Amino acid sequence: MTGGLTGRTIVVTGAAAGLGRAIALRLAADGATVVAADLRSSDSTVEAIVAAGGVARAVTVDVTSASAIESLIEEAAGVTGRLDAVVNNAGRFGGSRILDTTDEEWDHYLDVNLRSTFLMTRAAIRRMVDQEQRDGVRGRIVNMASQLGITGPPAALGYAVAKAGVIQLTRQVAVDYGREGIVVNAIAPGRIITGDHPGEREYLDEGTIDAATEFSLSRTPFSRLGVPEDIAGAAAFLVSDDCRFVSGAVLAVDGGWTAY
Ligand SMILES: NC(=O)c1ccc[n+]([C@@H]2O[C@H](COP(=O)([O-])OP(=O)(O)OC[C@H]3O[C@@H](n4cnc5c(N)ncnc54)[C@H](O)[C@@H]3O)[C@@H](O)[C@H]2O)c1
Repeated sequence: MTGGLTGRTIVVTGAAAGLGRAIALRLAADGATVVAADLRSSDSTVEAIVAAGGVARAVTVDVTSASAIESLIEEAAGVTGRLDAVVNNAGRFGGSRILDTTDEEWDHYLDVNLRSTFLMTRAAIRRMVDQEQRDGVRGRIVNMASQLGITGPPAALGYAVAKAGVIQLTRQVAVDYGREGIVVNAIAPGRIITGDHPGEREYLDEGTIDAATEFSLSRTPFSRLGVPEDIAGAAAFLVSDDCRFVSGAVLAVDGGWTAY
């Protein structure tokens, strides 16, 4: 593969499926060596990348574990001696209203969506700050937020608060490490149809629209919902050399949902 990311090593978490898989495929197509990390096996993602002529390796990791993340970053940086970017995409959607939210549920959504982003970002930057600059940049971080971290969705307390935290973590770290050449941005996807969530396969295969999909369409100025490649394109920009004076930004990729 040749492209703008040739010679770059990039970690993508949650790369076994959905948005993470699409991001991994896109970055590899742009020339990056992709470290596809997930709780589940990312072998099928790596196989698809290799079949297309790209370079990738799969790592099984729980992104809520600090020690597992240290190993992941070490392994990724060992590929070329440099860690160019990480895409903190792994996360889980769900939750409830506050009176139905148990301590365990709260901890779960904060852990998998926010603490994981904190741990990954800290471990990556610790490594990146000692790297040589390329065009003023030592490394790039892309955090997967959500439109639901900006708006107030019904009955998704833990998730929404965690994603709002991801947005503020993005801004904070961008400010704190700008002088060191660390570029940090977030993507806030709207409703993206991956085919993996309830009702989505029927929507894709038969055009059947359930209540959740109908609601999403009603809130989206575009006449369609998002596809994983919409997010992959945004990630490809945010890890590229073209992204060198954009930091602390939250890029809404939502067909206009949050502008409505
Ligand atoms: N799909 C959407 O409409 C949408 C909208 C806004 C934001 N997002 C965010 O985008 C990201 C990806 O969403 P998706 O729809 O592809 O989700 P998904 O559930 O299809 O995929 C998430 C991946 O993350 C992995 N994962 C979960 N917990 C993990 C852990 N502890 N350690 C390592 N890997 C773990 C899962 O195994 C899975 O492969 C998530 O952060 C999600 O919150 C998605």
